[in-house]
Amino acid sequence: MRACRRQPVERVPVWFMRQAGRSLPEYRALRGSGSILEAIAQPELVAELTLQPVRRYGADAAILFSDIVVPAAAIGVGVDVRPGTGPVVEHPVRSRSDLARLRPFEPDVDAPWVGDAVSILARELAVPLIGFAGGPFTVASYLVEGGPSRTFARVRALMHGEPELWFTLLDRLADMAVASLRSQLDAGASAAQLFDSWAGVLPPHHYERLVLPATTRILAELARSHPGVPTILFGVGTGELLSLMATSGTQVVGVDWRVPLDVARQRVGPDVAVQGNLDPALCTATIDVALAEARDVLTRAGDAPGHVFNLGHGVLPETDPAVLEAVVEVVHAEGRAGVVDPTRPAAAANRPGGRAPGVAT
Ligand code: CP3
Repeated sequence: MRACRRQPVERVPVWFMRQAGRSLPEYRALRGSGSILEAIAQPELVAELTLQPVRRYGADAAILFSDIVVPAAAIGVGVDVRPGTGPVVEHPVRSRSDLARLRPFEPDVDAPWVGDAVSILARELAVPLIGFAGGPFTVASYLVEGGPSRTFARVRALMHGEPELWFTLLDRLADMAVASLRSQLDAGASAAQLFDSWAGVLPPHHYERLVLPATTRILAELARSHPGVPTILFGVGTGELLSLMATSGTQVVGVDWRVPLDVARQRVGPDVAVQGNLDPALCTATIDVALAEARDVLTRAGDAPGHVFNLGHGVLPETDPAVLEAVVEVVHAEGRAGVVDPTRPAAAANRPGGRAPGVAT
């Protein structure tokens, strides 16, 4: 939480997007084969799946086990999350009459299990819980395309061809994100991440005009209801968007692996923290490769406060958890961004009876 606010820290914090999931044997054992949306409706199961990676990795934050399409599914838009594919929308949202299916999302009524899971986790976790919602472009892309897309042609044709319909759609999706994030924060989440994962497909002048206003509104409404709560805005392939994302009102900008973190820091400026950005693909290589790259990320993050270590995107299912365990040890032992006293084995204070791994005493 301090790193998000660009305050001094005892050690550089680390968590991983998609830290829960198929790379973990304990996840595969517990999750079973049903739809992920059914799993998400079981608070005890969600709590356990959220806790698994925190226990294994000693991560400094938990991310709620959920999905960006949960609110849309909960109001009956007709979304299924297919294994190996992702969200699929049977009747895509492409016309004004389709908008009628996007009624307001009431978390306590439509998806009370999310708040129940967050409450359990707020009691059980010793580290902050990050709540999340899908960013407006990314959720719109699934609803308009009807599923994952390589070109995003339909959604981009719509945003330019029918701007009025587009802005109405984004407005509804922004309201949905605000309602969802507020209820997660009310139930005990400590921070909020907005996953606008696919926004990087847009050029900056279109992102600025057609997406950023909705994102800015989401963050402003959160700041009003939950002043000071750390927010993280993330997308993939956003090198050309980083400086715009930094103007959204977010405290932290998530950076993918394509932009070196020292360059990313320049692009977002001194008033925003960065999160990232180890290449997830390199975590499927040898431990030596992953650690060399992790050290490069730490070096590029520099000494100034405001770095939350993460991957540049989610953990790939084929990742060996032992690699991520080693990455966490190196980040805790060697990370310097905002660390109060770099000569002190800072991690020792947080490990019962232990000293920081890899730190000479
Ligand atoms: O550990 C965590 O990060 C928390 C859980 C989480 C999931 N989805 C669980 C999940 C989070 C934060 C998400 C967000 C999400 N969902 C995003 C944004 C993050 C990103 O990756 O950019 C997006 C784009 C989605 C949509 C989605 N849901 C996709 C693309 C997939 C993968 C489909 C596949 O099988 O390859 C899903 C399914 C999904 N969501 C899984 C998990 C663990 C895997 C499938 C399963 O176990 O059923």
